[in-house]
Amino acid sequence: MPNHSDRKADHLDLCASDQVAFKAKTTLLEQVQLVHDALPELAVSDIDLTTQLCGRTLQAPLVISAMTGGVDRADAINRDLAQVAQELGLGFGFGSMRPLLEDPKAAGYRVREVAPDILLFGNLGIVQARDASDQQIVDLIGISDCNALCVHLNPAMEVIQPGGDNDFRGGLDTLARLHEVLNVPVVVKETGCGLSRGVGQRVAALGIQTVDVSGAGGTSWVGVETLRARAATQRLGELYWDWGIPTGASVLQLQGLGLEIIATGGVRNGLDVARALALGATAGGIARGFLIAWNDGGQKAAHQAAAEVISEIRLACLLTGSRTPQDLVKAPKFLGPELVQWRP
Ligand SMILES: Cc1cc2nc3c(=O)[nH]c(=O)nc-3n(C[C@H](O)[C@H](O)[C@H](O)COP(=O)(O)O)c2cc1C
Repeated sequence: MPNHSDRKADHLDLCASDQVAFKAKTTLLEQVQLVHDALPELAVSDIDLTTQLCGRTLQAPLVISAMTGGVDRADAINRDLAQVAQELGLGFGFGSMRPLLEDPKAAGYRVREVAPDILLFGNLGIVQARDASDQQIVDLIGISDCNALCVHLNPAMEVIQPGGDNDFRGGLDTLARLHEVLNVPVVVKETGCGLSRGVGQRVAALGIQTVDVSGAGGTSWVGVETLRARAATQRLGELYWDWGIPTGASVLQLQGLGLEIIATGGVRNGLDVARALALGATAGGIARGFLIAWNDGGQKAAHQAAAEVISEIRLACLLTGSRTPQDLVKAPKFLGPELVQWRP
């Protein structure tokens, strides 16, 4: 049975190329047409991208999303990406902290030296969270010094994963327990299949305030696990490769529930972030794009990629007459027919 670090190393290798992309499904963010404002009456310097998320201030509505931890390579990747977040005032997330449950010295979860001020997200799967004690989870937060804990819900990926989990009972109770016990916010997160309105309603009813939709259209985690799978789950994985709620549709589904929404899943640039914000998201997040940039040119390339996304968000604000990213939700827009179908 592959252990966590073999699996994480496979994930980093497989995600270095586009073979893990969705095959036909898109994020539907391309169906958000922001209306050009030829008289914006704003200077580029008037645009204020600061954004509140999880009770902290970001310099732009952007998160470098959860990817890694627990493998040797994770130390360098996480330190470099966290440093980019520090330099640009962004959020940054660790990959699953499951290895820390077994070994408090596991690689990759110490970034405060280079990123003292960032909004830092911890990460744990719902099944591991269900099975861990309160104290174990409190310790994970203490060791990593994170400001919020992303709890990822990923039933599709687990069932396809060789040796993955098959029992997802007790998830809502686990979220309620964590929300009660932890002194940092709980963020409910998918891993590429999106969150529906029904899930959003159940989560909001617990008092949880932040979700990360991690919708379909970007990295297919069923696809990643299918490429790793033995014959037993390979056929299922091929069938369900494109399963999930497109990222844009998921943001639309969660509108009006009072949740802070992070839009990840196939967000490629700042225009996609702006489109997600126009649908009601608070911030956008990118995972694989930053890994590819880091693979290409380390911290410098990742910094450049993130800086470009920020300028792209700023331009979308200017060209829609939005002084802040929060104003984008009021900007005139047209939604394409497939996206509109998902409106609650
Ligand atoms: C290499 C890699 C590893 C990931 N590991 C995790 C993880 O441990 N926990 C998690 O919640 N999401 C994980 N994700 C999912 C991302 O955080 C993100 O939600 C998803 O990939 C969609 O974003 P993208 O299309 O920009 O990659 C991982 C993504 C990548 C690319």
